[in-house]
Amino acid sequence: MTDDKIAVALRGITKRFPGVIANDSVDLELREGEIHTLLGENGAGKSTLMNVLTGIYRPDAGSISVFGRTVQLKTPKDAIDLGIGMVHQSFKLVPTHTVTENIVLGLGRGFSRVKLDEAQARVATLSKQYGVKVDPNALVWQLSIGEQQRVEILKILFRGAKILLLDEPTAVLTPQESEELFHTLRSMREQGHSIVFISHKLDEVMTISDRITVLRGGKNVGTVLVQDTNPQDLSHLMVGREIKFATFPKKESRGEQVLEVEGVDALNTRGLPALKGVTFSVAAGEILGLAGVAGNGQQELAQVITGLQRPTAGTVRVQGADMRGKRARHFIDAGVSYVPADRHGVATVGDMSLSHNSVLRRYREPKFGKGPLLNFNAAIGYARRLIKEFNISTPGHATPVRSLSGGNLQKVILAREMTTRHHLLVVMSATRGLDVGATEFVRKTLNDHRHQGGSIVLISEDLEELLSLSDRIAVIFHGEIMGIVDAETARIESLGLMMAGQRLSEVA
Ligand SMILES: Nc1ncnc2c1ncn2[C@@H]1O[C@H](COP(=O)(O)OP(=O)(O)OP(=O)(O)O)[C@@H](O)[C@H]1O
Ligand SMILES: [Mg+2]
Repeated sequence: MTDDKIAVALRGITKRFPGVIANDSVDLELREGEIHTLLGENGAGKSTLMNVLTGIYRPDAGSISVFGRTVQLKTPKDAIDLGIGMVHQSFKLVPTHTVTENIVLGLGRGFSRVKLDEAQARVATLSKQYGVKVDPNALVWQLSIGEQQRVEILKILFRGAKILLLDEPTAVLTPQESEELFHTLRSMREQGHSIVFISHKLDEVMTISDRITVLRGGKNVGTVLVQDTNPQDLSHLMVGREIKFATFPKKESRGEQVLEVEGVDALNTRGLPALKGVTFSVAAGEILGLAGVAGNGQQELAQVITGLQRPTAGTVRVQGADMRGKRARHFIDAGVSYVPADRHGVATVGDMSLSHNSVLRRYREPKFGKGPLLNFNAAIGYARRLIKEFNISTPGHATPVRSLSGGNLQKVILAREMTTRHHLLVVMSATRGLDVGATEFVRKTLNDHRHQGGSIVLISEDLEELLSLSDRIAVIFHGEIMGIVDAETARIESLGLMMAGQRLSEVA
């Protein structure tokens, strides 16, 4: 850190939503050339505070000064003009445009060929200067999520941002991509940029931060230097109590096969082979972990075993029944539940209330249906139960889910799918975006489910999580299963090698 020059000072920021004080008189100072982490439980007010600082929300009270000058941020453009840029969790890129076109988009109409060439050269310079690897000519639809995030970062730098706000950037990254991002953040810090970083992963928070501010219930409950704290103290500050990290004993005996996948081939959305001869099975009372770097066929596999996509070859059996040609609805009827990785697109309807969303896909159950209509009282009662059991922070069951915080939206989907009567639960990135307390709760619930004889396919990139919960772990690479190992005896190094494409026979 250079000296104590202040890039941004927030004083007494208060932001209310119907039924909620999202930010309650928050003071926060961001120094020049520092990486400042915002930490807090789901719904603590982190994203809201950043949205205030980017002119998306107007605070009800408080003042903002940027580089010593008191400012009014009426629109996002005001923030950009002051050098403040934000990378949101869901990106807003145009898939059919190139990286450079996306970066200059919105900077004024009629970008000529010459100007585009100039822009391209500048994008190339910026990406070198900050170590942001991306091809300026690539089309956005060809990019991985990690690469799309880099485009968003370049877009902000292109507009001359000195202050960068990153809202849970690592939630969608592989461990390697996170490392590269940290490299970029450090390089920005060296060049005098100020960064606000949001994350729930305490180990990475300890690695990357200079200072950490903890929000609880919308209030700033403390700002600390990283060298003066540790993960235990931080959890305590966040939650206000001790968090116990449990271990999860496996079940002694397993039951009959619930899911059998045999020789399955499938294509991805671009029509290219995504799964090749995939074979595995999951028994009653078993958690099968599926490890792999994102984009190696996990998405397609999840869709094939939940009936959302048809395989081009092979068979899927649920409780012995051949599911060939069956639709998602038949899979649901056969007792298959699914928590997808994309919570916004597939899993919820933003404008609908929490209670509507909690019975989504279940309206045909006698409990919730009145003929073709929804039994409102049953839905509301059920939603109340989920709010309580899963500790969902919301003003009430009638709140549209679009106004929930990222983590609380995730809890709604998990709660809905985990409490539906089912034999097989397919869950992708179960604890992504959840705070430490919620993560523990979800892991415990998955474990209980196994002990009650349920079957789970747990798809994750988090090896620690897979090792602590799974009975067996299958590793997928380029659409093929590299091997299936017992979690009890599995070694992290071997799993890593298999994730990089070596077969079990080669690493064992
Ligand atoms: N547009 C909105 N309308 C109504 N309520 C909102 C809106 N945005 C946020 N809230 C509420 O404000 C509170 C703080 O939400 P915020 O998104 O800032 O939390 P967060 O700390 O970012 O949580 P997470 O870790 O889950 O992302 C929550 O109770 C949320 O439901
Ligand atoms: Mg948030």
